[in-house]
Amino acid sequence: MAASEPAAGSLAQRLRTQTAGAHREAERTPLMQALIAGRAGRALYGRLLQQLLLVYEALEPRVAARGQHPWLAGAWSPALARRQALRADLTAFGLGPAAPLPATAAYVERLAAIDGASPQPHARLLAHVYVRHLGDLSGGQILQRVLARAFAGHGSATPAAGLSFYDFGSAEQRDALAQRLRTALAALPAEGAEADAAVDEALWAFEQHLRLFDALGAPA
Ligand code: HEM
Repeated sequence: MAASEPAAGSLAQRLRTQTAGAHREAERTPLMQALIAGRAGRALYGRLLQQLLLVYEALEPRVAARGQHPWLAGAWSPALARRQALRADLTAFGLGPAAPLPATAAYVERLAAIDGASPQPHARLLAHVYVRHLGDLSGGQILQRVLARAFAGHGSATPAAGLSFYDFGSAEQRDALAQRLRTALAALPAEGAEADAAVDEALWAFEQHLRLFDALGAPA
């Protein structure tokens, strides 16, 4: 799964370098540690998915609507969209939509504000696609394997029921999607107001995930 180093001087490299610390922090949160250890349980994972659905519902239509812009055209593909998979997983867990936690509400408001009057909206939306969708295509694949083992035999019809969030099709399809997104990021400049906005936004997104994970808690 290890990707080659992104092209020097590209947005891909800057995003990776500048969010590396935030990524480590996110990985070390009690919630992520519980998930990766297979200790989270369906109820907690379901609550995470409920909150993520609200984020994806606020993000994906906005990205799609601006999908022709040079900062999004190469990166976004309808095949990346996770909303339907999230809804299907929630249904598989017998869950419906949930009210947003404050951290989620703030995330949703931020996405609306980007779409409203913020400068560099495309670069900022791209940052969220980077944090969420490239994350789902990367570490999310590790989580899927752990969760499939952890949830197997807990009343689901198949081990994979409720795990379509991380399913991007065949391994080839998934790799092609990740490659497409990485290539688009590698073709964008690392300097300038847009690039600065993208990095700021990606860091904000990671921070907001820490707040959300904290609010969701984790088993002792
Ligand atoms: C236990 C939790 C996590 C694990 C084990 C994990 C693991 C990984 C791994 C191994 C990669 C590198 C894959 C590669 O080089 O192809 C990766 C990349 C990435 N992850 Fe995570 N991750 C976790 C949580 C998260 C979270 C919570 C987010 C976002 C909120 C996230 C966002 C990303 C992003 C954006 C990348 C791409 C980095 C880049 O190449 O620039 N990850 N993750």
